[in-house]
Amino acid sequence: MKRKTLLLALLALFPAFLFAGEGMWIPMLLQYNEKEMQEMGMKITAEDIYSINHSSLKDAIVLFGGGCTGEIVSDYGLLLTNHHCGYDYIQKHSSVEHDYLTKGFWAMNKGEELPCPGLSVIFLREMRDVTEKILFNVTPDMTEEERDAKINENMKKLIAEFEEETPYKVSIKPFFLGNQYYMLFNEVYTDVRLVGCPPSNIGKFGGDTDNWVWPRHTGDFSIFRVYADKDGHPAAYSKDNVPYKPAKHLDISLKGAEEGDFAFVFGYPARTNEYLPAVAVDQEANLIDPITVDLRGKVLDIYNKYQEQDPKVRIQYASKHAGLGNGWKKWIGVTEGINHFHGVEKKQAFEKDFQEWVMQSRSRYMYMHLLKDFEKNYKDLEPYELAYTYLAEAGLRIELVSFAGRFAKLSEVNKDTPQEEIEKMVAALKTTSNAFFKDYYEPIDREVAVMVLNEYLKAQPADFRPDFLNDIKDVNDYVDKLFAKSMFTDEAKVNELLDDFKPSKAKKLAKDPALQVYQSLIGFYREKVYDQISSISKDNARLQRIYMKGQMEMHPDRRLFPDANFTLRVTYGKVEGFKPQDGKTYRHFTTLEGIMQKENPDIYDYVVEPRLKELYNKKDYGRYADKDGTMHVAFTASVHTTGGNSGSPILNAEGQLLGLNFDRCWEGTMSDLIYDPDICRNISVDIRYVLFIIDKFAGAGHLIDEMTIVE
Ligand code: ARG
Ligand code: GLU
Repeated sequence: MKRKTLLLALLALFPAFLFAGEGMWIPMLLQYNEKEMQEMGMKITAEDIYSINHSSLKDAIVLFGGGCTGEIVSDYGLLLTNHHCGYDYIQKHSSVEHDYLTKGFWAMNKGEELPCPGLSVIFLREMRDVTEKILFNVTPDMTEEERDAKINENMKKLIAEFEEETPYKVSIKPFFLGNQYYMLFNEVYTDVRLVGCPPSNIGKFGGDTDNWVWPRHTGDFSIFRVYADKDGHPAAYSKDNVPYKPAKHLDISLKGAEEGDFAFVFGYPARTNEYLPAVAVDQEANLIDPITVDLRGKVLDIYNKYQEQDPKVRIQYASKHAGLGNGWKKWIGVTEGINHFHGVEKKQAFEKDFQEWVMQSRSRYMYMHLLKDFEKNYKDLEPYELAYTYLAEAGLRIELVSFAGRFAKLSEVNKDTPQEEIEKMVAALKTTSNAFFKDYYEPIDREVAVMVLNEYLKAQPADFRPDFLNDIKDVNDYVDKLFAKSMFTDEAKVNELLDDFKPSKAKKLAKDPALQVYQSLIGFYREKVYDQISSISKDNARLQRIYMKGQMEMHPDRRLFPDANFTLRVTYGKVEGFKPQDGKTYRHFTTLEGIMQKENPDIYDYVVEPRLKELYNKKDYGRYADKDGTMHVAFTASVHTTGGNSGSPILNAEGQLLGLNFDRCWEGTMSDLIYDPDICRNISVDIRYVLFIIDKFAGAGHLIDEMTIVE
């Protein structure tokens, strides 16, 4: 504790350093940002945001469903998050008769709310710095194994100790790449019910076409309610549970935000890598990402071609397209951003200064070889990273092969395998198989197979390929035979196998050519790739920890923030547009006009609900219109966010809700590696549009009545 107290005391002596949007700050240390936040316009205090002595905004923020953020907006546990965060649960409740995905869903009273088994929300009750206790007896001369063992032992002891005296779930997480440790006291609520969601052509308007793109017009929100037992404690679903009463819920502002206004996001960013060495950034942005982008781009072209021809195929491949396309577009942005911003060169310049600083003092000998070691490790890593990339993005991209792979275990059973185990496997595979064939279109997969195998052969040297690839003479011919001979293209044959499976059939199954391709890929990975990647990565984690320590020592005056690690953070900046390119300027907000401009009844992503059009034509916006008379839909801000921040509240100077974060602009997606205030923008849906949809569009004004609205 002592060293950190000293560090913090030092920090307080230095004048505020202007970060212009960068940083994901630990809420319990927010007092060190308070001055800067207030200078930027914030009217509340750090204590108002995070306190363990009285209620604060943090009491309204949850980790939603393990991957998104949500916020409580009423005294009756009403929760807002993104539509894409609630999507799975909306889908689970949807059927042909009740197509909530297409039509939306609105519970008109609490009795109509839909339980969501498997969904939980987590409240952070408190966090504590436990660095000293976790690093107790950890010495510099330890091997990594000894170090890990000691840390684990210290963690276990500490968790056990605290679990005895608190009702909360206790966990410990590393921060600053293993230089600091914080203990988190969480409360997990598991009775969470679906209350409402707009139709997909509002909640997902623009779909994957607009994903990561500004200008944006997505009403990306859904509504849930948290339930508790009579005493407010977490409880499994029960009819007797009551709406959870939070210590604090968020107030909602109808004033909107002007360009330049202070704003902050409070939520659960998942992962960033802001302290990587230049070689790592270069490898990711200029080698791995472009290959992935190229391969995925070609796959998406094939999907597009068939999806455009046939509405059935469009639906079958919608979700696959979304999954591939999300990363594809993001990584295009990462590479462009890093190069445009000279990210690698900037890191190199920093490293030069770092090395000079190291050489100034003997006491810094531990940092002396760091950068050289990184160079060597990343160079060594390169062929393995490439091998892994082709394996995942080419080999396993053939649906037939990855589907066949699901049967690998079954192909290994024998007469000694317990019957019960076999039955379990078979039951699970039936589900897998149904889902696979429902969304499988063989012509797409054949074309993808030819494309990826050609790319694979072109890119990877013969001694670094799975065996099956080296046996291929003619790719077209090979793919024809593979698809003709494998049983996995034929639903009837797969059903026949599963309906009457006996261990005696395993041998024949194992000989299926698609399953053999899968085994060849995995075998290659196990024998030639896995050990290398994991041992180098482990060493890189060690170097990274030491490098982080060095960076903190070198700049005691600079407030560094720990990389995102799925813990609660505050990030802040301004509501503002940007200039993505020379000659192009983006305004910071969009309006309903834009939805009407994008409208196209023939393109799925741009169909506009008749009721929305009616409200637009009548300009029936009620109190939700901006003072300029239009209906604002979304806005951008220079707030540092990443995946996991979806659904996070974006709040104004008073700490009132302005909107829900749901995306970033692709031009600035490099912010996971390097943040550039000029082009990194997060995108939020305007809370007034959310309320307008709830109230005017859906007629669910009773939900608004629960909220605290500040006009
Ligand atoms: N790009 C956002 C994120 O990274 C939103 C993804 C969901 N929306 C979509 N149109 N696919 O997760
Ligand atoms: N859509 C992302 C999410 O689901 C947020 C976008 C981002 O990566 O910033 O968390």
